[in-house]
Amino acid sequence: MGIKITPSILNADLADLAGEVARIPSADAVHLDVMDNRFVPNLTFGLPLIENLRAHTSMMMDIHLMIADVDRWAPGFAAAGCESVTFHIEASDAPVKLARELRALGSRAAMALRPATAIEPYEDLLGELDMVLLMTVEPGFGGQSFLDLCLPKIRRTRALLDKLGKELWLQVDGGISADTIERCVAAGADTFVAGSAVFGADDPDAVVQALREQALRVDSAV
Ligand code: DX5
Ligand code: ZN
Repeated sequence: MGIKITPSILNADLADLAGEVARIPSADAVHLDVMDNRFVPNLTFGLPLIENLRAHTSMMMDIHLMIADVDRWAPGFAAAGCESVTFHIEASDAPVKLARELRALGSRAAMALRPATAIEPYEDLLGELDMVLLMTVEPGFGGQSFLDLCLPKIRRTRALLDKLGKELWLQVDGGISADTIERCVAAGADTFVAGSAVFGADDPDAVVQALREQALRVDSAV
């Protein structure tokens, strides 16, 4: 599997986003958490900030929309030049239409699931997607503890993706660190969001590199 590390800037210095992105040159993408205090009990930033950041970085922008009315708002992020846009399935009324719209605008389309949302009802949707994001904490805040109960779902999702035979990324988000990344790789994840583990460190890029090496070691062993 191609291992990808996509750090979240949620717990970074939000007043200097461009500067923070420049501190993680080894990352495969920067993961940006958009929250509206409706879908989750927290409020972060929206499209205007993302549009501004776009002008400051050429790094792949991986947008994680934790917002209600996502069918209405998500296409704007693709139109702003974000390479990947993730919507929560729990917030979308027309996910097939939305995924097609995102792809037509040139973005990758991704579907996110809360920890208690099963993947099986969405099996037929997978062919419309470029990535599945499995939350490994309840969405809303950085710095929470990884939920081990998500591991069987990671394994079942990997099996569905293998059956489909298309190149979809399987991303995990929440509580990912040196302590938890190995069990996620072993379960079949290949794309890792890490927020506090990366930006809580003095040298964020060294953590990105170390997480990648750790994941690759496990990946080549399984
Ligand atoms: C939480 C966000 C995450 C968060 C991860 O709802 O989706 O991307 O920033 O932070 P850590 O790695 O600290 O759990
Ligand atoms: Zn996220």
